[in-house]
Amino acid sequence: MIQARDIFQKMWNSYILQNPEAKRVYDSFVAAGEVIQNDHVAFRTFNHPGINVDVLARPFLLAGYEQKGYYIFEDKHLTAKHYEHTSWKEAPRVFISQLMTVHFSPELQDIALKCISNIPEKLMFGNDLIFAGNIWGEPSYGIYEKLRNESEYAAWLYVYGFCANHFTVSVNHLAKLNTLEKVNQFLKEKGFHLNESGGLIKGTPQELLEQSSTLAGILPVKFAEGTFEIPSCYYEFARRYPDSDGNLYSGFIAKSADKIFESTDFYKK
Ligand code: NI
Repeated sequence: MIQARDIFQKMWNSYILQNPEAKRVYDSFVAAGEVIQNDHVAFRTFNHPGINVDVLARPFLLAGYEQKGYYIFEDKHLTAKHYEHTSWKEAPRVFISQLMTVHFSPELQDIALKCISNIPEKLMFGNDLIFAGNIWGEPSYGIYEKLRNESEYAAWLYVYGFCANHFTVSVNHLAKLNTLEKVNQFLKEKGFHLNESGGLIKGTPQELLEQSSTLAGILPVKFAEGTFEIPSCYYEFARRYPDSDGNLYSGFIAKSADKIFESTDFYKK
């Protein structure tokens, strides 16, 4: 349990360092008197045997997590697994997705393979890959744009590498802002931009999970060609409902997650 807490603390520290806007969202909730509990933390990778979902999951399995759900996102050519802690009740779920690179052009596959070949062996076979960030070297804006034409997910991963793609506030644990309508209104009043793809709230009480998210903050990133402003990470909000047996639903809804992925799509401020 301590081990799992340490992972999330370390992950959170770099997430807020890299995403000042996420920190501002967090601070706004705290200033409103809320205590934040995480519903889940999400990660992205390529479906390559050296760095796939199962590789990224390793440190979590060692820290007491077990695999629960498996998901397929056909349109975005992604698959994902989610993990839950076996004994720590308040532990965030872990959601790890991977891009099925074989579904894309030979160019995209080449770029992914080149990136992966730059990963030091020590990282690939150790348990710290999940914290490593961009370990494939200074990105090229030309390649970033080329990737974006095929997959926004691939372009994001190419620039940021291994880090928390988003943290997620558990709306069930909020005292006053205890519905997604209230959360969204609160965020809008504070001037944050929300992901409206598929509606502000993805999912319904009948589906047992409602989610919304901010649009990723825009950050200046140093590319080989110079500095460009591109989307970074975002913050998500989830409210879960009990199933017919009275147990809080713990999985994910692929149709909703599909839209949430778009929170890192390129846009200009
Ligand atoms: Ni999420």
